[in-house]
Amino acid sequence: MTENESSGAPLLVVDEITLRFGGVTAIDRVSFEIRPGELFAIIGPNGAGKTSIFNSISQVYEPQSGDIRWKDKTLRGLRPDKVAARGIARTFQNIELFPHMTVIENLLLGRHMRMKRSFLSGSLWLGPARREEMEHRRRVEDIIDFLEIERWRKSPVALLPYGFQKRVELGRALAMEPELLLLDEPVAGMNLEETEDMARFILDIREELGISMLLVEHDMGLVMDIADRVMVLDFGKTIAEGTPEEVQRDPAVIAAYLGDEATFSKVSDVEVGADDLAAVEAMHDAGA
Ligand SMILES: Nc1ncnc2c1ncn2[C@@H]1O[C@H](COP(=O)(O)OP(=O)(O)OP(=O)(O)O)[C@@H](O)[C@H]1O
Ligand SMILES: [Mg+2]
Repeated sequence: MTENESSGAPLLVVDEITLRFGGVTAIDRVSFEIRPGELFAIIGPNGAGKTSIFNSISQVYEPQSGDIRWKDKTLRGLRPDKVAARGIARTFQNIELFPHMTVIENLLLGRHMRMKRSFLSGSLWLGPARREEMEHRRRVEDIIDFLEIERWRKSPVALLPYGFQKRVELGRALAMEPELLLLDEPVAGMNLEETEDMARFILDIREELGISMLLVEHDMGLVMDIADRVMVLDFGKTIAEGTPEEVQRDPAVIAAYLGDEATFSKVSDVEVGADDLAAVEAMHDAGA
């Protein structure tokens, strides 16, 4: 990141938010900022409140106190689709795609909010609607090329290997042309090769597309490699914030992770069998 990109007003300001579910305080007076061009990561043990922060930014959850501002304007009270329309897109911890629809169709749905005319209106406004649809398809094809999923474009998402499904989900978020991308565990369950591919795409999204990112991930190797700054949550509270080097040295962070040094070099334990991949590819080649 250049000096220029890291300076200037923050894009997103999370200001002392607190979110409770009954007796559980999922987020406890948490504050942070994301600057233009920045890759900001949130880490923390299971149940620390990371996904709750995503849901608060998206206005899926409504924090009891505090404020969330995007370019100096509060997001509080907006519907989630309005938050997305302002330029904040997200992926989900568990893949949320339409499994029986093709890759192209799933990505076109991501462009839905950018469409002025619905496809239905085509009967009335055939010319403009057709032109607009062509333009959306062209944008979607660009994203498919960018994410190197050309060979799967017309396959139902359910037939894709898991790592490629995660890539399609990323593609759908990119189709919204966001300025900030919220990535909730983008490499969870991926093998080493898939993880490395995803890391490359995340870095390319920042460098080539100039999109800022908020990354939540348990894969410490990935976070420490690619994040500009890291915030560490434990039981809903911020226990550290700084560069990857700073937080790794922080005693409170080491304690929260039970002093498990291996945590910071772990990549992923889950292996997708090469046989599984070959079987799905064969099915694809057979025109399934
Ligand atoms: N809709 C909900 N209703 C009640 N409790 C919830 C809800 N969503 C989250 N919580 C609780 O809030 C706390 C934080 O959960 P959250 O999902 O934000 O954690 P997380 O850091 O994303 O964990 P993980 O790493 O396992 O994904 C947990 O105690 C969780 O049980
Ligand atoms: Mg979570």
